[in-house]
Amino acid sequence: MINEKMLKLGTKRSIIREIFEYGKKRKAEIGEEIVFDFTLGNPSIPAPMEINEAIINNLTRKDAHGYTSAVGDNKLRESIANDLNKRFGTSFKFTNLFITYGAASALCSTLRALLNNGEEVITFAPFFTEYTVFTEAQGGKLVVVPANLDTFQINFTEFKKLINSNTKAVIINSPNNPSGVVYSEETIIKLAAILNEKEQEYNHEIYLITDEPYREIAYGVKVPFVTKYYKNTIVCYSYSKSLSLPGERIGYVLVPDEVSDSKNVYAAIAGAARALGHVCAPSLLQFAIADCASLTSDLKAYEENRNLIYNGLTDLGYECVKPDGAFYLFVKALEPDAYEFYKKALEYDILVVPSDDFGVKGYVRIAYCVSKETIINSLPKFKKLIESYK
Ligand SMILES: Cc1ncc(COP(=O)(O)O)c(C=O)c1O
Repeated sequence: MINEKMLKLGTKRSIIREIFEYGKKRKAEIGEEIVFDFTLGNPSIPAPMEINEAIINNLTRKDAHGYTSAVGDNKLRESIANDLNKRFGTSFKFTNLFITYGAASALCSTLRALLNNGEEVITFAPFFTEYTVFTEAQGGKLVVVPANLDTFQINFTEFKKLINSNTKAVIINSPNNPSGVVYSEETIIKLAAILNEKEQEYNHEIYLITDEPYREIAYGVKVPFVTKYYKNTIVCYSYSKSLSLPGERIGYVLVPDEVSDSKNVYAAIAGAARALGHVCAPSLLQFAIADCASLTSDLKAYEENRNLIYNGLTDLGYECVKPDGAFYLFVKALEPDAYEFYKKALEYDILVVPSDDFGVKGYVRIAYCVSKETIINSLPKFKKLIESYK
């Protein structure tokens, strides 16, 4: 008998996959340029030239294709620590960093390291859908705090009702997928105060896991660096979005010295990664990123796209909280059932993702990491779509 839970994960209908398959078919039928596909968070901006050059330069190393140590290459870990210290005034050392296969493995290893059977992890709607899978697969239970629909900042009233003595960790993601909202400094300070108070009350640590693949993709607003606000913070980072390298599978976990029992937490993350099949992150990419850890792709185009699609849609009458980062817009559906609205949008060859799996009903996610032309050419279709509801 095979594992039923895993079978379900491998065969369960995924709405994003369904839309993706439909989009492929439709593009082959009527032409790529007239299908407006806003479904996937695949960066549209190329990786910087310097990364490609660094990959080529490092290819001549004798160990280019060898294993690195499981925790990652020391030079890479040093470059990352130096870059963070320069930008955020912190004092991390290379020993605080564990290099992973992107944010997904950073999150799974961290959750596996922290959770004992049945312990709870709290997150805030709307949230990245995989948190449910990642948490449950590591033996935990994901508890979702309902959204604050006015701002998509944290709904503290509901959070206070849900946190309890079985809460082991809290996951935040800012800039956020799918809302694009950046949690303000006020939000982070308030969250830290509640966590400090609850740690005292329950007499155990509550870890704050901050999932930050979009940290550098913010449009003129400050993204608070969370380790400065709360002691038991663990950062999960990825180069998938900031360096446009999602297929290369590289990121890290940062465990600051301030975390209680930080050496053992770090060791448990290394052990969890090992148990999950981690050997080392791709070596060539580690060597290349070590040479340019402070770089990002040329992210300006995302802000131009944000302005174009946010202004375009709100001028037409769509409702949406203005996103300050990432490359997503979370738009109110024009009927209560987001799935019905998604199907209606398909009639205009607009592909968006209904919001139910993100923990909120009645919205759709628009990923605007697409070409400018796609946005410009989609607006007349969005106009017809809204008119069809009048
Ligand atoms: C919020 C969030 N966390 C984690 C991930 C996983 O990122 P990675 O490709 O680095 O595994 C994604 C990917 O889209 C994401 O949006």
